[in-house]
Amino acid sequence: MLLEVNNLTVKYGEISALKGISLNVKEGELTTLIGANGAGKTTLLKTISGLLHPVSGNIIFNGKDITNTPTDAIVRLGISQCPEGRKVFPRQTIYENLKAGAFVRKDNEVEKDIENFFERFPRLKERRNQKSGSLSGGEQQMLVICRALMARPKLLLLDEPSMGLAPIVVSEVFDIIKELRDSGMTILLIEQNAKQALKIADTGYIIEVGNIVAGDTAAELLKSESVKKAYLGG
Ligand SMILES: Nc1ncnc2c1ncn2[C@@H]1O[C@H](COP(=O)(O)OP(=O)(O)OP(=O)(O)O)[C@@H](O)[C@H]1O
Ligand SMILES: [Mg+2]
Repeated sequence: MLLEVNNLTVKYGEISALKGISLNVKEGELTTLIGANGAGKTTLLKTISGLLHPVSGNIIFNGKDITNTPTDAIVRLGISQCPEGRKVFPRQTIYENLKAGAFVRKDNEVEKDIENFFERFPRLKERRNQKSGSLSGGEQQMLVICRALMARPKLLLLDEPSMGLAPIVVSEVFDIIKELRDSGMTILLIEQNAKQALKIADTGYIIEVGNIVAGDTAAELLKSESVKKAYLGG
């Protein structure tokens, strides 16, 4: 397993947002975590990234216990996060956003990687010197994903990348995530869009108010009656 989350409990004051949850992310796979508003999805990602600290349980990444490791050290170990709500640095140009994503790197291939992303996303290339706040929502999502990839992570965490986008753009974003997985990237994808996430995922988990209530292959979850009823519109 590339990532193991074991019996993780995270509290805000007296309230437990995660109640002893466990899940695994296998190397090379796309794992999705599905859940409604307030279920605890972002809390989990923030805890994996070191932004929040658990009261109990642990997180093992690549064989190493990273529980309570500082965020920048976690990025250096190979975990990159695309936060909820597409947080581009709006007053920086597209080029500067990409460059910022490489802050942990010391190799000399940063410019080469930026050019490769520009080849893949011509809309970003055309506007490379424009402020990224001027991009559409879909373009900002592409930029945030590329910025996270600029760290050359071993594990990519995506927090609701489809949120608030038009349906056609949502499909585009899911296609890109699938393409990334097919190229070998290990991904933990958090989504409320259960159907589309499970369609491209290898493994899925369902979280309800701080508890994992199901975990299986994505194909099995898509067939499950209870999942269909609660998350796939019957
Ligand atoms: N800073 C905070 N202080 C107190 N409670 C919080 C805080 N952040 C989140 N919570 C609570 O913790 C629970 C889990 O929140 P979380 O943001 O992890 O959910 P989520 O699954 O990401 O939801 P959404 O789909 O709306 O993004 C919710 O009940 C939320 O109100
Ligand atoms: Mg959230």
